Amino acid sequence: MTSTEQRTNDFRRLRRRNIFDPQVYDEELRHVFGESWLFVGHESEIPDVGDFVVRPMGDDEVIVCRSKGGDVRVMLNSCAHRGTQLCRTDSGSATNFRCMYHGWVYDTDGNLRGIRNRRLFPPEVDVSRHGLSTARVASYLGLVFATWSADVPEFSEWLGDMAFYLDAMLGRCSAGWEAVGEPLRWRTRCNWKLSVENFALDSLHLDTLHANPIKLGVFGTGDANPTSYTVVTAGGHGVTATKVPSTGEPVYPGYPPALVEDFGRHGSPAQQWFASNNVVCKGNLFPNFSFIELVHDTTGDPDAPPVAAFMLRMAQPVGPTETNIWMWILVPRDAEPRWKRLSQESLVRTLGVSGTFEPDDLANAVSVSTVNVGTRAGENDFLFLGGAHVQPQAEVEGFRLPGRVHVAPLNTEVLQRAFLREWAHRVPAMAGER
Ligand code: FES
Ligand SMILES: [Fe+2]
Repeated sequence: MTSTEQRTNDFRRLRRRNIFDPQVYDEELRHVFGESWLFVGHESEIPDVGDFVVRPMGDDEVIVCRSKGGDVRVMLNSCAHRGTQLCRTDSGSATNFRCMYHGWVYDTDGNLRGIRNRRLFPPEVDVSRHGLSTARVASYLGLVFATWSADVPEFSEWLGDMAFYLDAMLGRCSAGWEAVGEPLRWRTRCNWKLSVENFALDSLHLDTLHANPIKLGVFGTGDANPTSYTVVTAGGHGVTATKVPSTGEPVYPGYPPALVEDFGRHGSPAQQWFASNNVVCKGNLFPNFSFIELVHDTTGDPDAPPVAAFMLRMAQPVGPTETNIWMWILVPRDAEPRWKRLSQESLVRTLGVSGTFEPDDLANAVSVSTVNVGTRAGENDFLFLGGAHVQPQAEVEGFRLPGRVHVAPLNTEVLQRAFLREWAHRVPAMAGER
């Protein structure tokens, strides 16, 4: 083992069985998912009072609802009486939620409004004390997060330096963004961390695993040699912008001219630099909320220009080797309908479950999750050595960017190490590995 490869507690190596260990999984649910802000949806999915969607939070299920006051409420989807699943549909609009078992009725804020057969309950039973369990909620640029924990810091503190990068990407159009269509969902037989790692943190696999679609020109920005700017921020969050060389003004490939003009009116020069000239920009908020922006040329029509696309993704744990993937497609609200449609289609064709990229990624994550639950294989280490020699830079292209910025031809494995460090910090069973 060379000095670069020593066990240095910075997660250049990780014992493989730790990823799949059932005890680790149990502790993750309590200490990672139970003590984090978790993504539950986009505000545009529930525009009107009473609109709701049903979503997972860790291994619980919640109703995410637009309340009478206009804010978003997140409530446990379990009746306060004897726990029956209250809402049995994925989405809809409601004036109240009535439990099918004994008929207790809740309003869209989660307050108990009525007990059926009230005379059978003692008079002192106080309805105001038996509402649904409600989570803390934070909304940021249309993204809705929730947590059950009173100990998790306020969302802005949790987000920290990542606010700069989310603002750069999602705060740059005047009318905001909206989710188009229902979120796409599929189940895969891999560990959730491997799915986050593959989608949001790793770029080393692009020109190997995805060599064929890339050679066919699916990325619409040509062959210019890219440079990756990979940023690690506190809390296990991280983001990478992979850029083609630029000369002069910021360029936003794949967006219509009116939107490009609008982008130029938002953000600081450093944020505009970060958000522009990108082939791919992707990141992850710890633990499992990821986003990506990329530019595609998937129509097969030589006269159709490449189109940009923006996607949100969540790798939802179902078991140590079972994960549900959720995929939302975002478009600028005031883009032309035809452009929105092209952008949506381009993502379905690439990162959708039957797209040109996702099946290869899934096959790989399933392979790793299958081979390494073996007793012998589990004793080996995963290696995250890439970029261990790359020092963070205080300044990049004349800009001081928040967080620690690493510059390399493609993003290194620095994001993986930061993610795993945060994960291990929270999981008691990993105490010996920190
Ligand atoms: S379990 Fe819901 S009313 Fe009884
Ligand atoms: Fe991939």
